Amino acid sequence: MDKHVLLRDLDIPDIRELAVYQANDGYAAWRKALTGMKPDEVMGVVKDSGLRGRGGAGFPAGLKWSFLPKDIFPKYVVVNGDESEAGTFKDHQLIENNPHQVIEGVALCAYAVQAGTAYIYLRGEFYEPARPLQKAIDEAYAAGLLGQNILGSGYSLDIHIHLGAGAYICGEETALLESLEGKLGQPRLRPPFPAVQGLYAKPTVINNIETLANVPPIVLNGAQWYRQYGTEKSPGTKIFCVSGRVNRPGNYELPLGQYTIRQLIEMSGGTIDGCPVKGVLPAGSSAPILPVSALDTRLDYESVQAAGSILGSASFVILDDSVDIVWAARKMVRFFRHESCGKCTPCREGTFWALRLYDKIVGGHGSSHDIDMLADVANGMANKCFCLLGEFATSPILSTLKHFRPEYEQFVREHQNGLPNTYGDQLIRDHAISVAGGSVVEVAY
Ligand SMILES: Cc1cc2nc3c(=O)[nH]c(=O)nc-3n(C[C@H](O)[C@H](O)[C@H](O)COP(=O)(O)O)c2cc1C
Ligand code: SF4
Repeated sequence: MDKHVLLRDLDIPDIRELAVYQANDGYAAWRKALTGMKPDEVMGVVKDSGLRGRGGAGFPAGLKWSFLPKDIFPKYVVVNGDESEAGTFKDHQLIENNPHQVIEGVALCAYAVQAGTAYIYLRGEFYEPARPLQKAIDEAYAAGLLGQNILGSGYSLDIHIHLGAGAYICGEETALLESLEGKLGQPRLRPPFPAVQGLYAKPTVINNIETLANVPPIVLNGAQWYRQYGTEKSPGTKIFCVSGRVNRPGNYELPLGQYTIRQLIEMSGGTIDGCPVKGVLPAGSSAPILPVSALDTRLDYESVQAAGSILGSASFVILDDSVDIVWAARKMVRFFRHESCGKCTPCREGTFWALRLYDKIVGGHGSSHDIDMLADVANGMANKCFCLLGEFATSPILSTLKHFRPEYEQFVREHQNGLPNTYGDQLIRDHAISVAGGSVVEVAY
């Protein structure tokens, strides 16, 4: 790939400034849409491009937009910048270093569905990156690119930033809507889906920040241009967030399907001290861990799924042989226990009991029976939770048991002396840093 499509700040210094952005095709797609394209045409280009949502599920963006009823107003665009998944830090880089591309994408989406208001929902901890984004929004208003009667087109749009209060569940789209409405951040029952009854019960598009940052180059250059990258089912480029036991953690933008997990680890400088890879979490703590035998899996939605996991938001956490799988799994379960919103019993109780079992094992009081019980608890939750958070919580348990059960057995054998829990906690705290390579996963503690 010659140039980045999304992380353009890596090619063009100061692209966060409006003048620099405009000198590099910035807002050209916006002008093109407002002066010569009908809303349906914008939607059509995005549909044809095959752009899939980058927030986790990979749902086709243009198709989602087309679900909104045409005759109900007002409509809303809600941009998901909650970015709470452990190991995900791509939206952060986009809003901080290339904010105008995000704003232009939001505006094109709003125009396509004829929404007059867009909200960018950022996790509460993003008050720093919210500043350059707000500055860019202010610049766009001042330049007549947002606001009333934009560029004399008759179309008007307002964009607001909303900071959440730092809850993982508020990344789930319906909990996000509740939070945005000022209510407790808990998921809604579906149907009705947000496309029909979303924010304030009005038709609403919800897309991830990275998804919408793809839209300006697609509208400017066309669907076929976009499809030169990626595969037929996973077109375009994707930002891969790499963290854990690698030498160069960071964001890597790559065409989907062109490289393998092994190559991604090599690009990230390889593992620290060349330690052999033990396993890879392709979507932070939510996705089943992949064993070392899956390292030649291609980096696209279908291939990662065929390998037994999900690409999700592509937050690759690399675990090497220095990482104890039982401690790593306990840490992830602790995260889900903490973030469970408590609305439904399987998740609220299941995460509580799973963590108790991990505490017992890590504290040196576990047995093979407890390992079996962990599997029972996770299987008791699977497919019974109100929202996907509860399903995600079973991933670290069931997938580490599937691939690393002997490590659990060994752990239990070697810790038969009834180590006090505080000792276990201290080790976990120390270990949290090494699991994350000193970067991201420690926020989950
Ligand atoms: C527990 C949970 C957390 C989520 N967190 C995020 C998040 O932080 N950011 C995000 O874009 N999507 C997140 N999602 C997915 C959203 O519900 C939704 O599918 C997404 O924002 C749709 O945008 P997209 O189609 O552009 O991917 C989460 C889903 C669940 C179940
Ligand atoms: S699965 Fe967990 S996070 Fe989702 S509604 Fe139930 S308790 Fe809340």
